[in-house]
Amino acid sequence: MGEPMLPHGLPLRVVLLCSLVALFSIVTADEVQTAKPQCSNRCCDLTFSYPFGMNNTGNDCYFEEEYYNFLIFCDNSTNPPTPYITDKSTNIQILNISIENHEISIMVFVAKDCYDLSGGTSYNNDPRFTLPIFPISHAKNKFIAVGCDVYATFTGRQGSTYVTGCLSSCDSISDVINGSCSGIGCCETSIPRNAYRYNISVTSYNNHRGVWGFNPCGYAFVAADSFFSFSTDDLYKPPFDEVPIVLDWLIPKETCDDAKKNPTTYMCRENSNCTDAENGNGYQCHCLEGFQGNPYLQNGCQDINECVISQPCIGLCTNLPGTYNCSCQEGSQGDGRKDGKGSRIFTDEELKKATDHYHESRILGQGGHGTVYRGILPNNMVVAIKKAKILDQSQVEEFINELIILSQINHRNVVKLIGCCFETEVPLLVYEFVTNGTLSDHIHKCGHESTLSWRARLRIAGETAGALSYLHSDASAQILHRDIKSTNILLDENYTAKVADFGASRLVPLDRTQLTTLVQGTLGYLDPEYLQSSQLTEKSDVYSFGVVLAELLTGLRALSFERAESERNLSSYFASAIKGERLFEIIDSRVLNEGNPKEIKEVAMLASRCLRVKGEDRPTMKEVAMELEGLMKVMDRHPWVNQSCDLEEAEQLLGERPSKCDGILKSNASGNDDSISNQVPFEIESGR
Ligand SMILES: *[C@@H]1O[C@H](CO)[C@@H](O)[C@H](O)[C@H]1NC(C)=O
Ligand SMILES: *[C@@H]1O[C@H](CO)[C@@H](O)[C@H](O)[C@H]1NC(C)=O
Ligand SMILES: *[C@@H]1O[C@H](CO)[C@@H](O)[C@H](O)[C@H]1NC(C)=O
Ligand SMILES: *[C@@H]1O[C@H](CO)[C@@H](O)[C@H](O)[C@H]1NC(C)=O
Ligand SMILES: *[C@@H]1O[C@H](CO)[C@@H](O)[C@H](O)[C@H]1NC(C)=O
Ligand SMILES: *[C@@H]1O[C@H](CO)[C@@H](O)[C@H](O)[C@H]1NC(C)=O
Ligand SMILES: *[C@@H]1O[C@H](CO)[C@@H](O)[C@H](O)[C@H]1NC(C)=O
Ligand SMILES: *[C@@H]1O[C@H](CO)[C@@H](O)[C@H](O)[C@H]1NC(C)=O
Ligand SMILES: *[C@@H]1O[C@H](CO)[C@@H](O)[C@H](O)[C@H]1NC(C)=O
Ligand SMILES: *[C@@H]1O[C@H](CO)[C@@H](O)[C@H](O)[C@H]1NC(C)=O
Ligand SMILES: *[C@@H]1O[C@H](CO)[C@@H](O)[C@H](O)[C@H]1NC(C)=O
Ligand SMILES: *[C@@H]1O[C@H](CO)[C@@H](O)[C@H](O)[C@H]1NC(C)=O
Repeated sequence: MGEPMLPHGLPLRVVLLCSLVALFSIVTADEVQTAKPQCSNRCCDLTFSYPFGMNNTGNDCYFEEEYYNFLIFCDNSTNPPTPYITDKSTNIQILNISIENHEISIMVFVAKDCYDLSGGTSYNNDPRFTLPIFPISHAKNKFIAVGCDVYATFTGRQGSTYVTGCLSSCDSISDVINGSCSGIGCCETSIPRNAYRYNISVTSYNNHRGVWGFNPCGYAFVAADSFFSFSTDDLYKPPFDEVPIVLDWLIPKETCDDAKKNPTTYMCRENSNCTDAENGNGYQCHCLEGFQGNPYLQNGCQDINECVISQPCIGLCTNLPGTYNCSCQEGSQGDGRKDGKGSRIFTDEELKKATDHYHESRILGQGGHGTVYRGILPNNMVVAIKKAKILDQSQVEEFINELIILSQINHRNVVKLIGCCFETEVPLLVYEFVTNGTLSDHIHKCGHESTLSWRARLRIAGETAGALSYLHSDASAQILHRDIKSTNILLDENYTAKVADFGASRLVPLDRTQLTTLVQGTLGYLDPEYLQSSQLTEKSDVYSFGVVLAELLTGLRALSFERAESERNLSSYFASAIKGERLFEIIDSRVLNEGNPKEIKEVAMLASRCLRVKGEDRPTMKEVAMELEGLMKVMDRHPWVNQSCDLEEAEQLLGERPSKCDGILKSNASGNDDSISNQVPFEIESGR
C-alpha cells in the first residue's frame, strides 16, 4: 500500500457559511482597527474603543466636549480591576461596551422597601439614576417589581414628568408561579423611549402584613431583558443589590444635519454614515455597507473582503472597495454569483447519523490530516466527511486553512466542499464524494494492466494542470497547493480529475512571488530547490506536477524502494532515461500500445521541463496546461493509426522503441512495487 494520507472523497472547496463561521474570528480580529494608537483599550475583561478611552495623557484617547466626555476609569485597587464612568463624582461600573450596537451595560441599584414583624419600616431605599449623556435603552430593558404587597413607580422626565409602574398583591406563596412575572409576586412593564434619568419608588398597601412570613420586602429595578427570571425564593429576600441595565450610547445633543455643518467636530469618518439616534438626543455613525470597523476612527471603517468572507461568487471573485465583482470563467455563462445553495453548516447530530456514529466500516482512509468517513445524508446523497484527530491544534489550524483556501476556489477539477461542522471539539469538513478513488489507485494496479487509457491519462493531466493554473493565476489570490501527488488527485465515475487536500496550501500575498515556509510535502514529489532554500514559489507545484506526469507515462511510483537504488527516485530515473535515450524502455505498456510515439515523446519532454532543477527553468502551470490542451486537440483531429511505425526520429532521440511494431510487448517496466510505504509525509525545519 502506498501511504494512506488523504484518501478518496477528501477535500475541497468551501462553503460560504463555513467561511463565515471560521473567518469572523480570524479575519476581523486581525484586520479591524479598534483603538487609537498609544491608547489603552482594555480594563481587565472590558475592551472598548474610541470615542471611549482612558486618560492616557496627551494622546486624545477619548472624546470630550464642554459638558460631557467619554472617559473611562480603571480602578485597579479592586481585584479584578473595575472599569467605571463618572457622573458628578458618582462612579458607575461598566460591564461592557459595544461599538457596533451602540450599547453600554452598567450596574444600577435596586430600590427596596422592607418591614419588620410588627409592620414597621425596617429599610427603604429609592435610588435615582441619572446619566445625562446616554438614554436608557427602551428596547433592551424592563421595569420589574417583586413582592406580594408592592406598588412600584418609575418616574422620568421628558419635558414634563411622567410616571409608570406596576403593582403586585397576593395572599399565598402557593399562587406564585416560577418563571412567570405577570402580576402574582412579580410584575413588569416596559421603559419609555428617551429616558435619561429616573427615580424609582417602592411602597406597600399593608406594610406586608399577612405575607411577611414569606415576603418581608418589596423591591423594584430596571434591568436588561433576560437578566431576571423570577422564582418563589426571590420573595424571601432580594437576590441582588445591583443589576445590569443597557444604555444606548450616542454623540449627544446634535442631529446629523447640525453636526455635519461643523466638520471639525463631526464624528463620522470615511466610509461611514450618520443616523439620528432612534432613542435619545444625538447621532450615531455606522460603517457603510461593505465596510466594517470603528466609524469614529480615521480609516476605522475598513473594506470587507467579500471574496474571502462570504464567497459570493461561483466564478471569479474580485474584491472592490465596499463591494465585489463576480465574473464567469471562460466558457461559462451567467453573472458568476451563486445563490447560496449547497453551502451549509451541519450539526454534530446530523453527521453522527450520516456516518453511523463514525463506524469503522465507514472509514475511507486515514492519514496525517485526520480520518475520512463515508457518510450518507438523509436525502441519500453520499458525502466524504473529514474529521480531525482529537484536539490536535495544528490539525485544527490546517482545517481552517483549508476553509480559507477553498473559499477562494471554484473549479470543476477541484473537489467541492459541501459543508462543515464546528459544534464538536474537532472540526469536521464535508465534501462531495468522489466515487472512483485516487489517480494513484488507477495507475499503480498491482499485477493488472492499468485501467487508464493513454487518452484518459492525457485528459487527466490536462485537467489537473488546468486546476493548478487556475489556482496559480486566476483565483482572487494566488494559491500554492504544496502537496500535488497522484494520491491527491481523485477521479469521479467519468474519470474526471478532482484536485484534493488543501490542508498544506498557502495564499500568496499579491506583492510577493515567494514565501519562506516550513518545508512540507511528500518525498518523491518535493521540489529539490524548495527543499534546499525553503523558498516556496509556484514552480514547486510545477515540479510535483512533473512527477505526476512521469507517473502517468511510466506507471512507476514516484519513490519505490523495490527498485534498484539508481531507479528508486522516479524523477532522476526518468531524467536519466531521457538522457540515455532509453525513454521508451520505461514507458507503461498500455501507453506504448495506445500512444503515438511522437505524442509520448512530447509529453515526456514536457515532464522533464517541469522537473528541471532550477525553478526558473520550469514552465508555468499555464504554459503546461495550454500545451496539454493543444496536444489533445491534435489527437482528436488526427486519431493515431496504431499500426504506424514511423518511429525513426523518436528512436534516434530516445532509444529503441519496443512493443507493437515487432509484436513484442515489453511489460516488466510497469511498476509492480506496491508493497512498500514509499511516500512519507515529510517535514523539516526551515533554516529561518
Ligand atoms: C488625566 O490625567 C492627568 C495626569 O494624570 C490629570 O492631570 C488630569 O486631571 C486627568 N484628567 C481627567 C479628566 O481625569
Ligand atoms: C494602578 O494604576 C496606577 C496608575 O494608573 C499604576 O501606576 C499602577 O501601576 C497600577 N497598578 C497595577 C497593579 O496595575
Ligand atoms: C455584557 O454584560 C452582560 C452582563 O454581564 C453579559 O450578560 C453579556 O454577555 C455581556 N455582553 C458581551 C458582549 O460581553
Ligand atoms: C427624583 O427625585 C429628586 C429628589 O427626590 C427630584 O429632585 C427629581 O426631580 C426627581 N426626578 C424625577 C425624574 O422625578
Ligand atoms: C421555584 O424555584 C425555586 C428555586 O429556583 C425552588 O426552590 C422552588 O421550589 C420552586 N417552586 C415551585 C413551585 O416550583
Ligand atoms: C445613510 O443614512 C441615511 C439616513 O440616515 C440613509 O437614508 C442612507 O440610506 C444611508 N446611506 C447608506 C449608504 O447607508
Ligand atoms: C466587473 O466585472 C465585469 C466582467 O469582468 C467587468 O465588465 C466590469 O467592468 C467589472 N466591474 C467593476 C466595477 O470592476
Ligand atoms: C469506476 O466507476 C465505474 C462506474 O462508472 C465502476 O464500474 C468502476 O468499478 C469504478 N472503478 C473503481 C476502481 O472504483
Ligand atoms: C458522467 O458523465 C455522464 C454523461 O456525460 C453525466 O451524465 C454524469 O453526470 C457524469 N458524472 C459526473 C459525476 O459528473
Ligand atoms: C530525486 O531526484 C531528484 C533529481 O535528481 C533530486 O533532486 C531529489 O532530491 C531526489 N529525491 C529524493 C527523495 O531522493
Ligand atoms: C488502436 O488504438 C485504439 C485505442 O487508441 C484501440 O481501441 C484499438 O484496439 C487499437 N487497434 C489496434 C489494431 O491495436
Ligand atoms: C525485465 O525483466 C528481465 C527478466 O526478469 C530483467 O532482466 C530486466 O532487467 C527487466 N527490465 C526492466 C526494465 O526492469
